[in-house]
Amino acid sequence: MCGIVGYLGKNEKKEILLDGLQELEYRGYDSAGIAIIEDKKLKNFKAVGRLQNLREKTKDYLSNGFGVSIGHTRWATHGKPTELNAHPHMGAYSFVVHNGIIENYQALKEELQEDGVQFLSQTDTETIVHLFEKNYNSNSNAWQSFQETIAKLEGAYATLLITEADEESIYFAKNGSPMLIGFNGDDIYFASSDTPIIGKATEVYYLEDGEFGFAKNGKVTLFDSNGEKSFSTQALATNKAMAQKDGFRFFMEKEIYEQSQVMNDTMMGRLLEDRVDFEELDEKLFENIDNIKICACGTSYHSALTGSYLLERVAKIPCQVEIASEFRYKKPLLNERTLFITISQSGETADTLEALKMAKRAGLKSLSICNVDNSSIVRESNGAILTRAGIEKGVASTKAFATQTMVLWMLTLYVAQIKKTISQEQLNAELEAMRHTPKALLVTDKLHSKMTRLSKRYLHGHGFFFIGRDLFFPLALEGALKLKEISYLHAEGYPAGEMKHGPIALADSELFTIALMPKTLHYDKIKSNVEELCARDATVLAISPEPFELADDFVQTIYYTHPMLEFFEMMVITQLLALEISVRLGNDVDMPKNLAKSVTVE
Ligand code: F6R
Repeated sequence: MCGIVGYLGKNEKKEILLDGLQELEYRGYDSAGIAIIEDKKLKNFKAVGRLQNLREKTKDYLSNGFGVSIGHTRWATHGKPTELNAHPHMGAYSFVVHNGIIENYQALKEELQEDGVQFLSQTDTETIVHLFEKNYNSNSNAWQSFQETIAKLEGAYATLLITEADEESIYFAKNGSPMLIGFNGDDIYFASSDTPIIGKATEVYYLEDGEFGFAKNGKVTLFDSNGEKSFSTQALATNKAMAQKDGFRFFMEKEIYEQSQVMNDTMMGRLLEDRVDFEELDEKLFENIDNIKICACGTSYHSALTGSYLLERVAKIPCQVEIASEFRYKKPLLNERTLFITISQSGETADTLEALKMAKRAGLKSLSICNVDNSSIVRESNGAILTRAGIEKGVASTKAFATQTMVLWMLTLYVAQIKKTISQEQLNAELEAMRHTPKALLVTDKLHSKMTRLSKRYLHGHGFFFIGRDLFFPLALEGALKLKEISYLHAEGYPAGEMKHGPIALADSELFTIALMPKTLHYDKIKSNVEELCARDATVLAISPEPFELADDFVQTIYYTHPMLEFFEMMVITQLLALEISVRLGNDVDMPKNLAKSVTVE
C-alpha cells in the first residue's frame, strides 16, 4: 500500500527520503518517487518497480543545503504502475504526494480540464496539485491556495505539497489516511507511519482527521476547522519491528484488522455505480467460453470454491475447482471453451504455476487472481486481476483470502453482465451489498474481547469440526485451516449435511463444533444439522444472527442482508478465534512451525 515521507532541514535529503521509503517497503508498492526543492530549484525523480531502481536514478544527485522534500511509494489503484502515475505529481512549479482516495476527483478534474489544464497521469492525486496552482495563479498566496484546495477535497487523504511559490515550507493535510510529524531540533519529518522516522526524529505528533498546516523554519503551524491550534508531541518509539505492526501484537492480527480498509482498495475503480468493471480485462477473454475451471492451493483453493458457488448461481456458468497438486497428475481432459483461472496470493506457488502451464499447453485461455504484480503466475496468464491486499506478512493468510473472495464475487457479476444472466435490479442489489463489505469486516473491541474470552474454552478436546453449507462450506474449510495452522490443534471443515454420513460418530462433549449458521442461506437446514450434533452432546459454538438456544457458546452476527456480508463477518470471527487460541497456547502466530509463506516447491 502507498507510503509517504517528507523532510525539511539541512541534512542530505535524498538519503533521508529513500531510507524512509525503504522502511515502508513491507507494505508493498509498485513505483516510487521523490521531489526536493533546494536553492529555489525543484528536482524530481521517479521509477517503476523496486526502490533500487530509484536509487540507481538518483545516484549522482546530492542535496546538502537547507531544503524541503517529499517522497512516496505507490501501490497502483487509479491507473497502471507507470512512471507517469507514480507520485510526486507535478504542476508547473509544485509537487504533491497523497495517500487515500479523492472521491470527487472526476468532477474536479473536469473543471480543471475545462480551464485548459493538461493532466499527465490517470490518478486522482494529480487534481490536488493543479487545483493548488489554479488558486495560486489567481491569488498569489500559496498558503491561502493550499487551504482553498483542501476545502474542496472529498474522501480520504494524507497529503504533502511543496511549491516554488513558497520554497521553504511543506504544506500538509490529513483526513482518513494516517500521517504523523516527527521533530528533532530544527529538523521536521513527515511519514504515513512511525517506521521511516524512527532513529531520526525523537518526538512525534500523530495528526487527527481534519488537521492541516505548514512546516517552516523548524516549526509546525497546525490548524483545524476552528482555526490555528496548539498541539503537544510525544516521545517516538524506538523499536522498528513493533512499529511495523502498528501496535498490534502480530502481523496476522494487524492484517485481520486491515481487511476492512484493503477491501476499499480491492473495489476501487472496479465497483461502479451500476456495474462492475475491470479495466485490466479484455472482454474477449470470455468469448467462446462456456465453462470455467479454477485451480489453486490451500487458502486460495478455499476462495476458489466460494467463487464456484457464486459463478454457477449468478453468472450461470459451469465452474469446477481443482487442487493444483491433484490436477497436475490426473491427466485432466481439457477443452478450449474452458477459461482456466488460477488463484494465488504470492503468484509463485509451484503447483499452481505448473497447472497453469499445462492448461496453456492444452490451448486454454487463462486468467489469474493474484496479490503480486509481475509474479510468475501473473506473467504466465493471458489476463490478471490484482487483489490489492498489500503485502501479507503473517504466514496464515487472512486479508489475501478476503480480497480473493471479493475479486471472485466481482468477477461473477462481471461475467453475469457479459452473459446477461442478471437483471439490472439484481445487479444493483449485489453492488449495494458489496459496498457494505468494509463494514462487515470491521473488528470492534466488543467482538475481539468476546473471542479472547471464548478462546480459553477451546484449548483441549479431541478436535474441531467447522461446519457450514453452500458458500459457508468453503468458509468452514478455511476456518479449520486457520485454526490448525497456528494452534496445531486438529480441525476439519465439513459440509454440515455430511456430518451424519460418518463424522457424527466422533460426537461427544470433547468434540468442538464451530457452526456457521447464516440467516440468508439455508438457515433451517443447517439448524437441523447442528441440532443433530447437540443431541449427541457435542460442544457447539454457534455463529449466527439468529439466537440458537442449544449452543454452548454463541456469537451473534450483525450483517444479514446478503449471504456474502454474513460470509465476511463470520470469516473475521473464525480468524479471531484461531488467533486467540494460538496466543493462549503460546505459539508463534506469525511464523507457524513447518510452514512457509511462498511454496515454490512441489
Ligand atoms: C494458508 C495459506 C496457504 C496458501 C497456499 C497457496 O494460510 O496461506 O494455504 O494459501 O500455500 O499459496 P498462494 O496463494 O500464494 O498460491
